Amino acid sequence: MQRIQQLLSIKYPIVQAPMLGVTTPAMVAAVAEAGALGSLPVGGLSPGRTRELIRATKALTQRPFAVNLFAHAPAPEIDHQAIALMQDFLAEICREYQIPYTPQNPHDFRFYYYEDLIEVLLEEKIEVVSFTFGQLKAKVIDAFKQNGTRLIGTATSVAEAKVLAKAGIDIITVQGIEAGGHRGTFLHNQPLPQVGLNALLPQVVDEVNVPILAAGGIHNARTLQAAFALGASGVQVGSLFITAHESAASDAYKEAVLKAADTSTVLTRTFSGKWARGIQNQFMRRLNATGVSIPYYTHQNQLMSPIRTYAQQHQLTDFMAMWAGQAAGKSRRASTQEIVEGLIRMLPG
Ligand SMILES: Cc1cc2nc3c(=O)[nH]c(=O)nc-3n(C[C@H](O)[C@H](O)[C@H](O)COP(=O)(O)O)c2cc1C
Repeated sequence: MQRIQQLLSIKYPIVQAPMLGVTTPAMVAAVAEAGALGSLPVGGLSPGRTRELIRATKALTQRPFAVNLFAHAPAPEIDHQAIALMQDFLAEICREYQIPYTPQNPHDFRFYYYEDLIEVLLEEKIEVVSFTFGQLKAKVIDAFKQNGTRLIGTATSVAEAKVLAKAGIDIITVQGIEAGGHRGTFLHNQPLPQVGLNALLPQVVDEVNVPILAAGGIHNARTLQAAFALGASGVQVGSLFITAHESAASDAYKEAVLKAADTSTVLTRTFSGKWARGIQNQFMRRLNATGVSIPYYTHQNQLMSPIRTYAQQHQLTDFMAMWAGQAAGKSRRASTQEIVEGLIRMLPG
């Protein structure tokens, strides 16, 4: 346990999961101030916005925090036919729900890849960089290592954990199928690996010799203890922070999380083109029922982006991507400080 605290310069082996669209600089800073590791998500954001968010976080805390990247390869060729069919469906369903919809030109799609952000992270002397959706290129790993940056990768299978460990990644987050948000899967997507934390964690611990963070469904003393008993050196907790006062989630999303049952979430590609766990809603049901094929990430993500923003602003839960894990209903409205201090108190002796 001590090893992970030394590696990350933190007092407690608890990581607040990066949650794009939910995590704010205020949340990250509050976690850091409490002695745990806050994570600032910047996956897909521009270098300018990334720097702004890092500076906003630094203005609130002098403690180290992690910055989180999406390490996927660039999207494959644009599938114009699939995008046209999807836009027909979106136009129709938006008309039905009176949501403004303007068709997009796929040539205007813009997404920043992690390599666009490395310079900013090095310049800002970020001490911990975590990533999901892939493995960093060797030259990027070298650049971070020369800078003394600690690296945390995400694995959803033993094979992925081995790939990360072999490349010298310092810590691995093992993401069980219970976890909210996107799957970090990057090796074999067809079919998607769906291993529960209880089965995955001890198998990864047996196979790789780096400290492991357990992620997925961790919410109370028993789940924390189980993670450590199964060999984790620390935990990464996401869903419990969605309802934090410092969260950027809309009030309707927070209410849906608070009311969620164990069975309320599903794995879906409907909102982004990449598998993710979220609270089931009408948009997911309707798109799945049509059988229309879903364009790849990041294309579907870009098509959905204006609809999701409108839904967030108008509290339309049926069109929001309400990412949440299978134990998200165990959350409560509280400050980030209260939530993280609650977790610290529950750490095994
Ligand atoms: C709303 C939400 C957004 C997420 N966004 C990210 C992200 O940007 N980067 C990332 O590495 N993981 C992301 N995740 C996954 C978390 O890192 C973590 O695996 C998950 O929250 C753990 O399971 P739990 O939600 O049951 O605690 C997200 C999870 C949620 C709930």
